[in-house]
Amino acid sequence: MHKPLLDVLTGHRQKVPPIWLMRQAGRYLPEYRELRRRAGNFLELCFNPELAAEVTLQPIRRFGFDAAILFSDILVIPHALGQRVSFEEGEGPRLDAMKDPAALDRLRRDVDQQCLAPIYDTIVRVRNKLPAGVALIGFCGAPWTVATYMIAGAGTTDQAPARLFAYRFPEAFAGLIDILVEASASYLIRQFAAGVEAVQIFDTWAGILPAGEFERWCVKPCARIVERVRKEIPDAKIIGFPRGAVSGLRHFLDQVAVDAVGVDWTAELGFVRDQIQPLRPIQGNLDPLALMAGGSALARSIDAILAAFSSGPFIFNLGHGVLPDTPIAHVEQLVARVRGAAHG
Ligand code: CP3
Repeated sequence: MHKPLLDVLTGHRQKVPPIWLMRQAGRYLPEYRELRRRAGNFLELCFNPELAAEVTLQPIRRFGFDAAILFSDILVIPHALGQRVSFEEGEGPRLDAMKDPAALDRLRRDVDQQCLAPIYDTIVRVRNKLPAGVALIGFCGAPWTVATYMIAGAGTTDQAPARLFAYRFPEAFAGLIDILVEASASYLIRQFAAGVEAVQIFDTWAGILPAGEFERWCVKPCARIVERVRKEIPDAKIIGFPRGAVSGLRHFLDQVAVDAVGVDWTAELGFVRDQIQPLRPIQGNLDPLALMAGGSALARSIDAILAAFSSGPFIFNLGHGVLPDTPIAHVEQLVARVRGAAHG
C-alpha cells in the first residue's frame, strides 16, 4: 500500500498533501491526559511500550493523519547517557545542569541501549497496529538543541547557558556534541531497525545562533548524523528541522543531505516556495497560534499555505508543536480543509 508521506519524501508531489502535526499526541487530547494520569511520571510513560504505543495511535484514530510520530521525548538521550532527567508538572524538564567541562566526566561515552530498548519495543507495537497508508516517523533532538537542556538543566528563553559554555569551553562543548552525534545516530539506526519509516531531527533552537556557531553546532553535527545513519541504512528517509534558521536554510540544505526540511511559521511563503522547495520537499508551516485561534484566521492561513506550496512536494504541518490549549474542533477543521481543498 502506498504511503503519501513517504511518496513526498522521495520527491513526489501529492495532489492532496499528506498531513501530520508536531506534538500531535499530547495534552490537548483528553484521552492523552487520562492515560498520562495513569502512567505516573512522563518518563515512565515514554518507557512503557504498551502505553506509549497507545498514545502514539490516539491522534491517528481521532484525526486520521497520514503519519504517526513515535511518542517519546528528545531528552531520553541525556537520560540514556547517565544524566538525571525528570519532568516537573507544569514546569518542563529538569536535568543536572552542566556548569563546567568536568561535568562531561559524569556522562557515559555511549548511550545505554538497554535503557532505550522499551522505545524500540513501542515502535514494533505501533507498526503492528498502524492503519494501511499511515507512515511511522521516529525522531531525535539535534545535538545543539539537546545540549541546551543538558547544560542549562532546564528550558531557557535564550539558551544563554549553552551559548556561554560553547564560547568559554569550545573543546569541551565540541566533546559533548560528538557524544550526542554518535548517540543520536545509533538511536536513529535502531529506530529504523525496529520499524520506523522516516525520522525527523528536531533542532528547535537552531535559529538563535550567529552564523559561525550555526555552522559548527547545527549544520555540521546534523550532517554527520545523516551520514552515519545512511552508512547503515542507505535509503533512510530523514526530515531536518532547523527551526528559526530561515536565513541559514539554503546553506543547511547544501550541507545536510536530508530528504525534506521543516520550516517554521516565520518563513515567508514566497521565499520558501521559490528558494527552498526547488531544493527539497518541504514541511510546514502553519502558526500553532492560528490553529489555536481557529475561525477565519485559521482558514486564511491554511489557504495561503496550500496556495503557495501545492505545486511541489509538500507535507502539511505546523511550524512548531500543537499547543496544549488548542481546541480539538480546530484540528478537525484543519484536516478537513487540507483534504477538501481542490489542488488540481
Ligand atoms: O506527538 C509528538 O510530537 C511526539 C512526542 C514528542 C514529545 N516531545 C512529547 C512531549 C516529541 C517529538 C517531542 C520533542 C521535543 N521534546 C522537543 C523538540 C520539539 C519541540 O517541541 O521543540 C523538545 C525541545 C522537547 C523537550 C521537552 N519535552 C520540553 C521542553 C517539554 C516541556 C514543555 C512541554 O511542552 O510540556 C517536554 C515535555 C513533553 N514532551 C510533553 C509531551 C507530550 C508534555 C509533558 C506532559 O505530558 O506532561
